[in-house]
Amino acid sequence: MTFSQVFPFHLLFFISLFCLSTPIHGHTITNQRHLLDSISQISLPPSPAPEASSPSYNVINPYTTRVFNVVSFGAAGDGVSDDTKAFKMAWDTACQADLAVLLVPGGHSFIVQPTIFTGPCKSGLVLQIDGTVMAPEGPDSWPRNSSKRQWLVFYRISEMSMQGGGVVDGRGEKWWNLPCKPHKGGKGSTPSSPCDSPVAIRFFMSSNLTVKGLKIKNSPQFHFRFDNCQNVHVESLSIKSPAESPNTDGIHIENTNNVQIYNSLISNGDDCVSIGAGSYNVDIRNITCGPSHGISIGSLGIHNSRACVSNITVTDSVIKHSDNGVRIKTWQGGSGMVSRITFDNIHVDTVRNPIMIDQYYCLTKKCSNQTSAVLISDISYTNIKGTYDVRSPPMHIACSDSVPCNNLVLSDIELLPAQGQIVANPFCWNAYGTIQTLTIPPVDCFLWGNPQLVDQTDVNQC
Ligand SMILES: *[C@@H]1O[C@H](CO)[C@@H](O)[C@H](O)[C@H]1NC(C)=O
Ligand SMILES: *[C@@H]1O[C@H](CO)[C@@H](O)[C@H](O)[C@H]1NC(C)=O
Ligand SMILES: *[C@@H]1O[C@H](CO)[C@@H](O)[C@H](O)[C@H]1NC(C)=O
Ligand SMILES: *[C@@H]1O[C@H](CO)[C@@H](O)[C@H](O)[C@H]1NC(C)=O
Ligand SMILES: *[C@@H]1O[C@H](CO)[C@@H](O)[C@H](O)[C@H]1NC(C)=O
Repeated sequence: MTFSQVFPFHLLFFISLFCLSTPIHGHTITNQRHLLDSISQISLPPSPAPEASSPSYNVINPYTTRVFNVVSFGAAGDGVSDDTKAFKMAWDTACQADLAVLLVPGGHSFIVQPTIFTGPCKSGLVLQIDGTVMAPEGPDSWPRNSSKRQWLVFYRISEMSMQGGGVVDGRGEKWWNLPCKPHKGGKGSTPSSPCDSPVAIRFFMSSNLTVKGLKIKNSPQFHFRFDNCQNVHVESLSIKSPAESPNTDGIHIENTNNVQIYNSLISNGDDCVSIGAGSYNVDIRNITCGPSHGISIGSLGIHNSRACVSNITVTDSVIKHSDNGVRIKTWQGGSGMVSRITFDNIHVDTVRNPIMIDQYYCLTKKCSNQTSAVLISDISYTNIKGTYDVRSPPMHIACSDSVPCNNLVLSDIELLPAQGQIVANPFCWNAYGTIQTLTIPPVDCFLWGNPQLVDQTDVNQC
């Protein structure tokens, strides 16, 4: 084939048009394949909308995408220079382009200061992270005028995929070692305390998001936080920080619905996944969790607040060497309801409190008893098997005096001591429910039938 067969005249015309009209920072497309891709974008009619069954926000189409490489925007990627400006410029440019790929290339380490990546952007933006993105190291390097509560924030974004084989490194060690942290004898974080530490990646008021493939490590605080988001798909992540790192929850969800968290490995110093108030329709599947504090709903109802959480499933997962297995925790004095929760096919390995409900959650041990509580209703535990650490009972179900738990269901439970003799029996208090098959160990502390007045009180409606 001759050149003119491949490049008919009208395409050459478009090449020159493209080169003339592209602003300087759009000159990220250096090789011919990318040039061809861009030409296709210009010369082809718009492609039809993808089928509803395959979400369009995680597919890279080589014929329509434009690649914006942060290096072309001046990022050094040498692990020393501050690459924030380049990331911001690349973001602003990619954000305004249809089907853009914002590329963080492999073989480089980029330092990015706390940044809010703001939308709305054109649909189908892909943030492709193949290299390493690093936070400034510790509180002393954190810019003074930036919030100490978040590092990379994605705000008002819809239809975006964050993906790649790269690493996001929060370099949290100096934050974990602050003297005000609870394990260092301090009181921990209050809203404006000097002990605030940044969440590594926060999605706020965003929707139709995919996050997949990445390794996220050593966050100063939560690794991911999704708040006020909708339609979130998380897949094939590896999240890792030391077992002694405080508050380093893997994925925290709050006021967020329609979430899938699949096929991921999480080990850290707090909950692998934590689900806060206002979350519903969350599906967690095939997670390997631990060492950690397990998978947790709560804590809910703090400072007499109202919390509603429903339709959560955790299935086909492993929890190992963790302080808890599957846990629901609420503060006294709250209102609202946790309902329709299913824990199914969970393997536990040397876990303290594999099954836990705690309606007396209290960090100081000085919380006074109150009459209102977040109601806990319709919770099913099926096929939970494995071993527990005998320092804690295999099941700990402590429900409120005034608002008992109801419709708890246990089926196929087989929990054996990891080592030594059975020293603690299942504990339950004010727990109403049914046991569908003989459990190991036997549970004889459930109350039968339905507690009175449950579901009738306004404060517990959601
Ligand atoms: C903080 O200050 C730097 C330098 O003056 C500035 O570039 C940056 O935009 C400021 N950040 C915020 C969040 O105000
Ligand atoms: C998100 O996806 C859903 C279903 O795929 C779609 O109906 C909705 O319009 C999308 N929302 C936005 C803001 O793009
Ligand atoms: C479960 O997740 C792991 C990664 O943690 C993956 O390798 C494996 O293929 C997944 N299994 C299924 C059945 O999807
Ligand atoms: C919870 O799931 C049920 C059954 O799938 C569904 O009918 C209900 O609408 C869901 N609740 C919410 C709040 O989405
Ligand atoms: C609160 O109630 C629980 C359960 O009835 C009881 O064990 C505990 O002693 C009470 N605490 C206080 C401070 O009254």
